[in-house]
Amino acid sequence: MVSWKSCVTMLCLGIESSCDETSLALVRNGRVVNQKLASQERMHAVFGGVVPELASREHLRIIGPLYDALLAETGLGPEAIDGIAVARGPGLLGSLLVGMGMAKGLALSLDRPLIGVNHLLAHLLAPGLEQELMFPALGLVVSGGHTQIGIIRSGFDFSWLGRTLDDAAGEAFDKTARMLNLPYPGGKIIDALSWFAQPDTGLLPRPYLDNRNLDFSFSGLKTALARIIKENPRLVAPVMEQEPNIAALASSRPGLAELCASLNWSIASTLGVKLRRAVVLYPEVRALIAAGGVAANSRLRQELAEVADDCGLRLIVPSPELCTDNASMIAYTGSLYLQRGCAHGLDLDAIPRGRPIPNDWVQVS
Ligand code: KG4
Ligand code: ZN
Repeated sequence: MVSWKSCVTMLCLGIESSCDETSLALVRNGRVVNQKLASQERMHAVFGGVVPELASREHLRIIGPLYDALLAETGLGPEAIDGIAVARGPGLLGSLLVGMGMAKGLALSLDRPLIGVNHLLAHLLAPGLEQELMFPALGLVVSGGHTQIGIIRSGFDFSWLGRTLDDAAGEAFDKTARMLNLPYPGGKIIDALSWFAQPDTGLLPRPYLDNRNLDFSFSGLKTALARIIKENPRLVAPVMEQEPNIAALASSRPGLAELCASLNWSIASTLGVKLRRAVVLYPEVRALIAAGGVAANSRLRQELAEVADDCGLRLIVPSPELCTDNASMIAYTGSLYLQRGCAHGLDLDAIPRGRPIPNDWVQVS
């Protein structure tokens, strides 16, 4: 265990490397001092999805230079850092290990406390960097890797109520985009195409609603889409090297925009049904927090606003740059814990996707 330095105005370094974004940030008093972020999106686009081994190697290559740039831009030296927060999972194991190795090395060499942060909780607390949060809140994380609903009673007290049993919502978008030859990650392109048509609400199912739980299953949707695309091969775009001209693509492929609008509707509406169900089960909630890349989806944003309005909840959605993976949310969440005297030892473990994150920090002051 490294030493603990109690510090209310702590400068916390956050490190994020759970998937294909390498990011480091400094947060003080709930405000971002500086952040660096390198996305590997273009590197993985060639393969139509994240290649785990390439992702870890790229994290390893870039993390040191990002750290140097982060400090150089602020004029601060390493000794100014009061604590170190790192995303410990869920995520790709090899990717997480790069950030955790860096965090442990810094904690050891600078003799500063270390805290491992639950990446999904950090997504939900991220808007706290921009506005006051309100608890208890329902939290929805919708990204390329996760679709989870939770109840957050405070930054230290939250539990998951439902999760996807197979594909995440973002995966449903990305896999559909792949079937249509649209570049990776395809969610935002499908969303952009959807503006050129109205959804056909009879075209696609709203999957896994015929039950009483708060879980999701989007794999059936993928099967339905695969059948439609097979029956209508002219929906498929030509192979493209760069981002398409959306208007030209929509007009050259009749039915494509309608399919995209219908997919938007199906996913957003499915999420909306489960959120409304959660409000009935937990009437004490006062706010709805949504985060993750898919929270940028236009139809989902509309659905979230309707749920919040109908249920009397305050809707809290962070700005787009805080919706996707970033180190500011890790530094912010970590600093809440460190300021409470909670820290991890140097034996902190990385947690891969699918395994629960233990509350195994220790109270050091
Ligand atoms: O949170 P995020 O940036 O990263 C990871 O999951 O690692 O989420 C990325 C996901 C991708 O699946 C992408 O297609 C999806 O968010 N996405 C969208 C939109 N923008 C990004 N999906 C639907 N509509 C969008 N506007
Ligand atoms: Zn994430």
